[in-house]
Amino acid sequence: MNLRAYQPDDLPHLARLFRDTIRTVNLGDYTPAQVAAWAPDTPDLERWRTKLAGEETVVAELAGEIVGFCSWEDSGYLDFLYVHQARQRQGVATGLYAAAESALRAKGLARVHTQASVTAQPFFLRQGFRLLRHQTVQVRGVGLPNAVMEKALV
Ligand SMILES: CC(C)(COP(=O)(O)OP(=O)(O)OC[C@H]1O[C@@H](n2cnc3c(N)ncnc32)[C@H](O)[C@@H]1OP(=O)(O)O)[C@@H](O)C(=O)NCCC(=O)NCCS
Repeated sequence: MNLRAYQPDDLPHLARLFRDTIRTVNLGDYTPAQVAAWAPDTPDLERWRTKLAGEETVVAELAGEIVGFCSWEDSGYLDFLYVHQARQRQGVATGLYAAAESALRAKGLARVHTQASVTAQPFFLRQGFRLLRHQTVQVRGVGLPNAVMEKALV
């Protein structure tokens, strides 16, 4: 697996991977209505561009294809972590997360935190996160359950 920094040309690929992963993988843990609200048909690429401009993003490739990506803020907030539906449980997220954690450690941050989907909670527990609280966030008028999780880095 090759890990590299995000480039602006990746944007439509990441937006598509996000949508398709939610509509297949997350559909195992969320209702069709929740998935539809979370991952609309047509991504707002300008909104994506603005969001990723404020974050650090790493992209995973296998055989020249993008198979996952992870992004985080300087504050230690881990934002996106998505792996292609055909590449689940092959260690892609582990590699992406390791890159994120080492970048955050290099900044001297004391903790990394995230809002983990129901689907991703076992992954984050495996990475040493602890669950702080369950919550429901509103996305396009639909409630999506997730969990606030954190890991100490010191
Ligand atoms: C969560 C996600 C990123 C994990 O990606 P992945 O590449 O499949 O994860 P890895 O292969 O690196 O998993 C490492 C370990 O985490 C744990 N794990 C990962 N997914 C798991 C699952 N669905 N159930 C139980 N444990 C899981 C396992 O211990 C796994 O090791 P193992 O496969 O040897 O048992 C992926 O399932 C995904 O894209 N989910 C949909 C998007 C999403 O919800 N993203 C998070 C938004 S907050």
